[in-house]
Amino acid sequence: MDDAAPTKDKPFLSDVKTLRDRARKNISEGAMTWTYKGDPKKTVEILQSVLATEIVCVLRYTMHAVSATGISSEGVKAEFAEHAKEEQEHMMAVAERITQLGGEPDFNPEGLASRSASEYSTGPTLVDMIKENLIAERIAVDHYRELIRYFGEDDPTTTRMLKWILSVEEEHADDMHDLLVAHEGKPMLPN
Ligand SMILES: [Fe+2]
Ligand SMILES: [Fe+2]
Repeated sequence: MDDAAPTKDKPFLSDVKTLRDRARKNISEGAMTWTYKGDPKKTVEILQSVLATEIVCVLRYTMHAVSATGISSEGVKAEFAEHAKEEQEHMMAVAERITQLGGEPDFNPEGLASRSASEYSTGPTLVDMIKENLIAERIAVDHYRELIRYFGEDDPTTTRMLKWILSVEEEHADDMHDLLVAHEGKPMLPN
């Protein structure tokens, strides 16, 4: 860490020349500059699990979109497909952030399920699938809320990305809840 790193008393007093000199040094570190307050190795490790979670979500929703059958399954299939697409956007964003932090995104299918917070689960009926997705979304929401608190201002970029992902996962959970009510006539989760 640089001697002139910001402190509580001197929050941002680097002059332009100092900033430019620092940026020229250690350019192999890419986006990782001296002001990064997080622990990049730890951040990458955590993001690998987020990446695995998102990959599992892509796979689960894709599988559901393809295999959902039965009366009134068309609307649900479309919803599953839409979610699969959005999970893929999350997957890409997380993988890119890992790269920015100097890591190598782990797409290895081996061990994927154990790296992921949510499960690849499915059920024989449409309602089972909706329930599995709702559970997976609720796990993701809890997990990401904790991570947002953990990263906070130490890594504002990762925090911002996770906040965006969290807001989409909350919508997903809401969509699954609405579908469940529509197909079962009652919510699975008590208010
Ligand atoms: Fe996601
Ligand atoms: Fe989701």
